[in-house]
Amino acid sequence: MYSNTEIAKEIYYVGVNDRIKHKFENMLPLPHGVSYNSYLITDDKIALIDTVDVCYSEIFIDKIKSQLADRTIDYLIINHMEPDHSGSISFIRKYYPNITVVGNKKTLEMLEGYYGIDDNTLEITDGETLSLGRHQLQFHLTPMVHWPETMMTFDVTENVLFSGDAFGCFGTLDGGVIDTQMNTDKYWDEMIRYYANIVGKYGSPVQKALQKLTPLDIKIICSTHGPVWKEQVSKAVDIYDRMSRYEGKEGAVVVYGSMYGNTEQMAEAVAQGLVTGGVRNVVMHNVSKSDASDILRDIFKYKGLVIGCPTYCNELHPEIDSLLKKIEIRAIKKREFAYFGSFSWAGVANKKLAEFGEKMKWRTVNFTVEEKMGLKENNYQSCIQLGKKVAELLKTPETSEPACH
Ligand code: FEO
Repeated sequence: MYSNTEIAKEIYYVGVNDRIKHKFENMLPLPHGVSYNSYLITDDKIALIDTVDVCYSEIFIDKIKSQLADRTIDYLIINHMEPDHSGSISFIRKYYPNITVVGNKKTLEMLEGYYGIDDNTLEITDGETLSLGRHQLQFHLTPMVHWPETMMTFDVTENVLFSGDAFGCFGTLDGGVIDTQMNTDKYWDEMIRYYANIVGKYGSPVQKALQKLTPLDIKIICSTHGPVWKEQVSKAVDIYDRMSRYEGKEGAVVVYGSMYGNTEQMAEAVAQGLVTGGVRNVVMHNVSKSDASDILRDIFKYKGLVIGCPTYCNELHPEIDSLLKKIEIRAIKKREFAYFGSFSWAGVANKKLAEFGEKMKWRTVNFTVEEKMGLKENNYQSCIQLGKKVAELLKTPETSEPACH
């Protein structure tokens, strides 16, 4: 019944869309849904690359059968074992009992650990190739992008890279599969949000993987989420390169917690100071309203970060505290940092924010504002001043002595 998109000669898209799930990994909202991508190569031997979330096994198998009719699948290549891609392995093995599951040593350990599968497997090593007939597949181990077993498979014949999660993004595929068929605008911010929240901690392994891919003549990237990149391969690779080097664009995020609006007014003044100082990209987030995944996306996107926080029960505002933990987990590097705070009878927030900046090894503006109770004129002006100082720091190269210190 299904008419599958042919991506390159004898390579078909057999993935599915998920518009039901509210939160990916039960944490990250999916306003545009998500796709689980899988690909079929129909040569003398037939290979299936990755599977899909178990909730979509039936549709998945129907798509495969529409392509293969009575032919069987010889190899199931597993680039990534996270269950959104490995969830249908057992199901596939029931339909194709003679299928050989191909993966590296760590893949096969996980295959047994998650699904109790230890037969009909083929362990491959880095650089090894597998011939399907005309198509020659080459395996590249790329550990910790973002799991230990992650690898990529390169179809040398058609110059197609099956990259696992790398270069993927949130967002369903609405009719088209390849970037040439669609308006890709909605996917770029979702790629950064995906990267920031899921891959973010692993900048160094991503850099190693990118270096490993450099000699390959990649014409098409088939990721496990989002569009197939054909026209915009270099844009997708550039985003991964920039994110994994923690290179923020010119701009600043002002994120604040505020119970009664006093810290919020300070944040408004800081943002005004940033703009007065010449920063055009200023993004504000109320930590209690914005989703943390969006805040992290913007922190990855921009170089500057200003955090404002009231003291709450002699601690940080709990929502800011939770955000700091999320930033720390991702080990975000090279941010230009400033902070401000407020309190009613005992100020603690600023001290803790200063410690956080130190722990993250960020360049920090040595000027801050801490207001007691309502915002007064002098501190309103100081907040504007703080914004200007951040703007100044953003213009100072990291190697030179910061102008604000
Ligand atoms: Fe799409 Fe790491 O799973």
